Amino acid sequence: MKEIYLDNAATTRVHPEVAEKMMDALVNNYGNPSSLHRLGIRGEQAIKEVRELIAKNLNCQTPEIYFNSGGTEGNNMIIQGVVENKKRNRMRIITSAIEHPSVLDVFTFYENHQVEVIVLGVDTQGHIRLDELEAAMNEDTILVSIMGVNNELGTIQDLKAIGKIVKAVNPKCVFHADFVQGFMKIPVDVQASLLDALTLSGHKIFGPKGVGAVYIKKGTDIKPLLRGGGQENNMRSGTENVPGIVGFGEAIRLRKESFSDEFEAIRNLRTVFINEIESKVDDIKINGDPNGSPYVLNISFNRVRGEVLLHSLEAKGIFVSTGSACSSHKKEKQYVLKAIGLAEEYKEGTIRISFSKDITKDDVKIAVEAIAQAVNSLRLLVKPRKNR
Ligand SMILES: Cc1ncc(COP(=O)(O)O)c(C=O)c1O
Repeated sequence: MKEIYLDNAATTRVHPEVAEKMMDALVNNYGNPSSLHRLGIRGEQAIKEVRELIAKNLNCQTPEIYFNSGGTEGNNMIIQGVVENKKRNRMRIITSAIEHPSVLDVFTFYENHQVEVIVLGVDTQGHIRLDELEAAMNEDTILVSIMGVNNELGTIQDLKAIGKIVKAVNPKCVFHADFVQGFMKIPVDVQASLLDALTLSGHKIFGPKGVGAVYIKKGTDIKPLLRGGGQENNMRSGTENVPGIVGFGEAIRLRKESFSDEFEAIRNLRTVFINEIESKVDDIKINGDPNGSPYVLNISFNRVRGEVLLHSLEAKGIFVSTGSACSSHKKEKQYVLKAIGLAEEYKEGTIRISFSKDITKDDVKIAVEAIAQAVNSLRLLVKPRKNR
C-alpha cells in the first residue's frame, strides 16, 4: 500500500542527503567541539558554518544564534530566561491563546508565580487583534511572545506590525516569536520585525529531531536555562549535538534552493485539495486564514469524530492528525479551535492536513477520495440530530 504522509506539521521524514551528512559527522566528525585539538576544531568549524547559514537567513549576526534541542527548549529558554532574569516587583508578559503548549504552559506556570500574564484572544481566522495588543502593553511588560505561523491553522501573524507596536510602547520589552512552523517556508527578517528572539526547530524541515536554535539579539538579557561547561557562549551548556546541527544545516541548505517555488506549488496543492473536498463532501468548514501558510490545511466535518476519521484513513495508508501532535496528550485538546470560536458540532470532527514537497496532485486526489468515502460512511452511522 502506498503511504501518503500528510502530517508534516507534526514532523517530517529526514531527507536522505541530511541523513548522509549526519552519518558522516557521527563517524568522522566525532571530536568534542570544545576540545583544543584538531578533531575538536573540526567539530567547531562544522557548527560555525551552520550558525552562519541560519544568521544569513534571519538577517542577524552569527553570534546571535544559539543551538539547542529544538522548539520546546527554545521557547522555554527565551520565556523563562527573560522572566528569571528580571525578578522585579511588577512584571507583565503577553502571549496569544493559540500558541504552542511549549509557550502557553510556561505562561501558565508564571501566572501562579506573581507575574501578570495576559493571553490575547484571536479573531475567527486566528489573528491577534493589534489594538488589543497595544492596549495590553505597558511599562511593566517585559516580554511579548507571539508565534509566526500557527501549527494547527497555518495562520500567519503580522510580526512586523506586532514588533512596531511592542517597541513603540516599550522599547525595553523583549519581542519573541516561535517560528518553528515558518522557518524556511515563509521568509522572516528579525531586524525588520524588531524581534529580539526567535525559536527554530530542525525536524519540521526534513532535518533531525532533537535539534534547533534560537536567535537572541545582542544585548538582550536572558538567564541561561542550563548551566555547566559554558558552551554556546554560556547561553546553553552541554556538548553540542554536532551530527544534529550538521543535519539541521543540510536541511536548511536543501530548502534554500527551492523555498519560493515550493511555496507556490504547495499553495496550488492546497487549493486543489479544498476544491475537491468541497465538491465531494457537504457540511464542512475550512478553518484559518485562506492566505495563511499553505503547508497547513485545517478542516472540520460535521457529524464525524476526527479521531475515528484519522484511524480510518490510517487503515488506507493516509496519515493526518487531529490538531497538533504536540498537544494530543493534553487535557484541553482543542484550545485553538475554541479560541477561533468554531461551533461545537464542527470541533470534534477536525483534522489537520499538512503538506510537503513530496506530495503530488495524484496523492491529493487519492487522499480526498479516501476522506470523502470515510466521512460519508461514518455519517451514515450517526443518528440525525433531533430538532430541539
Ligand atoms: C509552533 C511550534 N512550536 C514549538 C514546537 C516544538 O518543537 P520541538 O518538537 O522541536 O520541541 C512545535 C512542534 O510541533 C510547533 O509546532
